[in-house]
Amino acid sequence: MTTRGRFITLEGGEGVGKTTNLDFIRRWLDAAGLEVVTSREPGGTPLAEEIRGLLLAVRDEPVAPLAELLLVFAARAQHIAEVIEPALARGAWVLCDRFTDATYAYQGGGRGFDPTVIALLERLVQDALQPDLTLYLDLAPETGRARMTGRALDRFEREQDPFFERVRAVYLQRASELARFRVIDAAGPLATVQARLADALRDFLNRSGQ
Ligand code: TMP
Repeated sequence: MTTRGRFITLEGGEGVGKTTNLDFIRRWLDAAGLEVVTSREPGGTPLAEEIRGLLLAVRDEPVAPLAELLLVFAARAQHIAEVIEPALARGAWVLCDRFTDATYAYQGGGRGFDPTVIALLERLVQDALQPDLTLYLDLAPETGRARMTGRALDRFEREQDPFFERVRAVYLQRASELARFRVIDAAGPLATVQARLADALRDFLNRSGQ
């Protein structure tokens, strides 16, 4: 019988270096001899990437918070059905750039959505699916913002610091409540951040008997 793969998610605010660090984690897991499927949310399938485009586009029409929340979960339902579940079922590890913790942080903390409504949709869309390990790259929003230069900002990136303070507060709150979280201090040189990530991964592999 095939052993089910593990589900690792990477979270963080804007400008924390998620893309570079996702690549580092993927290479680290590859080097450990694991088959890794890398993906992202919102997105990860052609349909879900189209929904991502709808969510990130800057538009004149105000986006109703409930419409935003349902689009996030619509993309997620497709991503789970087409990519995440099949990969885990065949024994591959899935490394995903953001998942539902981002919904609690952005739609819950940022937009002020009631977390019990998010939990309801989470249950409907994911059933029992939860990440096994969540690496949260933590950085003060003003430091992250200072790192974001040279490109057009999307609909979320245009939010102001108080929005991102609420996003960060929800991530840290969840990290204090859920054992699967590891908070990685993302301030300081990249090599230091990646040494912290490698420690967390080593620890996870040891605990999961790999
Ligand atoms: P990214 O730029 O980190 O790839 O993420 C795209 C944006 O989508 C980011 O600003 C956070 C936002 N987002 C949500 O608001 N809710 C979610 O559930 C997810 C996964 C992302």
